[in-house]
Amino acid sequence: MSAKLKVAVLGATGYSGMELTRLLLRHPRVETPVLLRRAENSNPTKTALGGPPSASGNDQINLADIFPVLSGNGNYPLEPLSWSSLKQKGVDLLFLATPHEVSRSLVPEAVAHGMRVIDLSGAWRLKQEQHRAIYKFKDDDAATAAELTGKAVYGLPELNGDKIPNATVIANPGCYATTVILGLAPLLKAGLADKQKGIIADSKSGVSGAGKEPSARTHFVSVADNLSAYGVFTHRHLGEIAEQLQLTTDEITFTPHLLPIPRGILSTIYVHLKHKIRAAEIESCYREFYKGKRFVRVFQTPKLPEIQFSLNTNYCDLGFCLAPDGQRLVIVSCEDNLIKGAAGQAVQNMNLMYGVNEGEGLL
Ligand SMILES: NC(=O)c1ccc[n+]([C@@H]2O[C@H](COP(=O)([O-])OP(=O)(O)OC[C@H]3O[C@@H](n4cnc5c(N)ncnc54)[C@H](OP(=O)(O)O)[C@@H]3O)[C@@H](O)[C@H]2O)c1
Repeated sequence: MSAKLKVAVLGATGYSGMELTRLLLRHPRVETPVLLRRAENSNPTKTALGGPPSASGNDQINLADIFPVLSGNGNYPLEPLSWSSLKQKGVDLLFLATPHEVSRSLVPEAVAHGMRVIDLSGAWRLKQEQHRAIYKFKDDDAATAAELTGKAVYGLPELNGDKIPNATVIANPGCYATTVILGLAPLLKAGLADKQKGIIADSKSGVSGAGKEPSARTHFVSVADNLSAYGVFTHRHLGEIAEQLQLTTDEITFTPHLLPIPRGILSTIYVHLKHKIRAAEIESCYREFYKGKRFVRVFQTPKLPEIQFSLNTNYCDLGFCLAPDGQRLVIVSCEDNLIKGAAGQAVQNMNLMYGVNEGEGLL
């Protein structure tokens, strides 16, 4: 591939869209992305700080006015979403860093206009109705939605790398789900886990995981100096964890927590093993599974990853400890929720879709 990729981002004013924009702006194989905002007739864009859309005093909204970290390197105008304009500009790939409902309605339109899509939301991740029901989608065209649901590829490169290059729609995985799936996949594939005894994934995330709009739960006063569990047995990521790992929701208990830090996830996963095993065998199982997968770092036991090790990177870090009885395993899995859990993984997927080196723009 020689010409640079022409891409667009909708949702660049949000946390994951902003990270995505920063990654794309310095990606050597991508033209300056077309940055999109809501269509003219919808609500005006609010700034991250809740101020007026633009400090420049005119109608043009510049992303650097919203995120001053971008200022000093030129203008990053936000254009209203228009399919004809995207077509005119030769945009082939659309990133959606938008709420689930918005992505659910826009993906069919984008595909109908001949575009490929990487969607960061949960709109297209789930194949099974029993899991998807939690989103309560009301599809305008049920037949098209069903077809796209079937075709969309769950964009976890370490598991589904062979399906990504030819995908039209990539459903970028959930942030928590990425840590739990990558933490468990080698063990389950090797048939070592005793699923009947139940697996527990206890996950903790920084507050940016909830997006830029503050709520009573994510308000500074609620979060600071605190740690709270939420979504117990009901969190949306349980469905994708179960589907990707071919588990039933009775076999895994997933409990997310809100940590008083801006970003980063740590998942502690508890597994009973079917039979007694040595730590060296577990380690070689993980190393073998992730051989050649450059964005998973397997730590040498007993060293465990910490949130800070993977911050601002596209790595998912894995480590484990085996109990003296050789049958109880604790896996620790960490990532930056906005990078490997969202924007970085989206760029990794784009690289694979267009035959670009998987790590381009990410290392
Ligand atoms: N945060 C994470 O760690 C994370 C990780 C993985 C996946 N995700 C998923 O990625 C998506 C974005 O998450 P986020 O945390 O970045 O959210 P966010 O900070 O709340 O940003 C949401 C973005 O969507 C835009 N938007 C909202 N309604 C829209 C509409 N009707 N039409 C067009 N654009 C609209 C917003 O634009 P305005 O500025 O105009 O409001 C904003 O740019 C979500 O689906 C989320 O579940 C997030």
